[in-house]
Amino acid sequence: MDSSYTYHRLDEEAVTASDDAAIRAGQVEAFPTSAAAPVFAARRWWRRRPAWRWVARDPTGAIAAHIAVHDLLLGSAEGPLELIGIAEVYTRPAHRQRGLVRALLACCHRHARERGLAWSGLFGAARHYASSGYRPAGCALVVDGAPPAVNGGFHLCPLHPAARWPEGPVDLGGPTW
Ligand SMILES: CC(C)(COP(=O)(O)OP(=O)(O)OC[C@H]1O[C@@H](n2cnc3c(N)ncnc32)[C@H](O)[C@@H]1OP(=O)(O)O)[C@@H](O)C(=O)NCCC(=O)NCCS
Repeated sequence: MDSSYTYHRLDEEAVTASDDAAIRAGQVEAFPTSAAAPVFAARRWWRRRPAWRWVARDPTGAIAAHIAVHDLLLGSAEGPLELIGIAEVYTRPAHRQRGLVRALLACCHRHARERGLAWSGLFGAARHYASSGYRPAGCALVVDGAPPAVNGGFHLCPLHPAARWPEGPVDLGGPTW
């Protein structure tokens, strides 16, 4: 872990105006061609509002990297399934490839474990997340009530050795995060 950075959890309800502007600037820069980019110009969340954010600050206090964390309750044939949903992962260009995303994910995982959660899930590319413990989920998802379908980008990381993913489709109870 690069010791010139510090890692902080932000409660979504308590994000300051200056952090809001910095987070949105980073989102627009990181996802310029995404359908979310115009939304991020005005608002720091896209389809669902996260509960938490984790940021890495450089020695000046500026936000160098960011992760949004959703507290989610999904549906399965085996009952409700709690997990954290990781989203809006970015590192500002000058700070990339120094392990900031790995470090922020470790913070998110520790905080989720402390709260008794057994899984973390995200939509993204394996090359960025495999070293943090994420593997393709391979399960069918019900997104916004549509018929169950496998989304190849959906990756899961167990947060406890005993974590067991349910059989059958998992209902997101709304859109992806
Ligand atoms: C992807 C991104 C978030 C990586 O951030 P980062 O702080 O540089 O990532 P880290 O240094 O913590 O590296 C995490 C892993 O990703 C890999 N990685 C990082 N940048 C990579 C790149 N350009 N190509 C391939 N792998 C890359 C690292 O090698 C590392 O894997 P390892 O532990 O197996 O070596 C950053 O490049 C970014 O903000 N990109 C634009 C936005 C984006 O694509 N976000 C992801 C949305 S799912």
